[in-house]
Amino acid sequence: MARFDDRVALVTGGGSGIGRAISRRLATDGAKVAVADITGDGADETVALVEEAGGTAISVPCDVTVLDDCTNAVATIDREWGRLDFAVANAGIVGFGGVDDVEDEDFNEVLDVDLYGVFRTAKAALPLIKRSGGGALVFMSSVEGLVGSSFLPAYCAAKTGLLGFCRSFAHEAGPYGIRVNCVNPGFTKSPMTEPLGMDDYWIERTPLGRIGQTEDVAGVVAFLCSDDADFVTGQWLAVDGGLTSIR
Ligand SMILES: NC(=O)c1ccc[n+]([C@@H]2O[C@H](COP(=O)([O-])OP(=O)(O)OC[C@H]3O[C@@H](n4cnc5c(N)ncnc54)[C@H](O)[C@@H]3O)[C@@H](O)[C@H]2O)c1
Repeated sequence: MARFDDRVALVTGGGSGIGRAISRRLATDGAKVAVADITGDGADETVALVEEAGGTAISVPCDVTVLDDCTNAVATIDREWGRLDFAVANAGIVGFGGVDDVEDEDFNEVLDVDLYGVFRTAKAALPLIKRSGGGALVFMSSVEGLVGSSFLPAYCAAKTGLLGFCRSFAHEAGPYGIRVNCVNPGFTKSPMTEPLGMDDYWIERTPLGRIGQTEDVAGVVAFLCSDDADFVTGQWLAVDGGLTSIR
């Protein structure tokens, strides 16, 4: 028996980077995984990788800025598998620029995906997780949810906002046996960060002397979904090689 046999997971932003690694890890641990992404090709590729490794996954089109997309994704999961145990709200975008340069709509766009998109995912998933007898939600925050960063004001606001949302929602969901936690990755190699060419900058500042790999984050998400984290809710956990433990 794998630890997540008979469990079902939803992973938003599962078509790339960290979300792909999470989808693969949960599937390797036995879960059936719905890979939800705005980019169908990316989600299909993730499904193919999961299936190649002997796991079970489906691709579900979903733009987390649209509540109906999120509820339709959960309805698809219900039709396919009749239950939902884990929802990983991972979809995210980054937006650069100081307050002086960032326009209202740019700021809003980042919040719409990175903060409200998590709210919509949670809202859509809650009824089916409740009906399934409980489970776990994991929200993808960031070290930028723990400390400020110049030229990332909207991203920092969204990722910090997730911590408050997580704590409040954990309170609401706890009586249903549903745990809610945040993961806060440091600089992690993915299609989001590769074009930035900042690996050496972050390696120098990280006690463990390397940047993160997507699998580092996926392992911690799997832990937070697992029974090993059965008494953990309303918390955040940095996966950053010690970056935010020093100044
Ligand atoms: N890579 C890092 O260094 C890092 C660090 C901290 C936090 N994060 C967070 O981890 C998450 C994943 O990042 P990544 O590095 O894998 O980036 P990525 O760009 O490789 O993956 C993001 C995925 O989200 C999807 N997505 C974007 N907008 C969407 C929407 N509206 N609806 C549905 N899907 C959407 C994209 O299509 C993509 O598949 C993000 O929330 C990001 O903010 C990343």
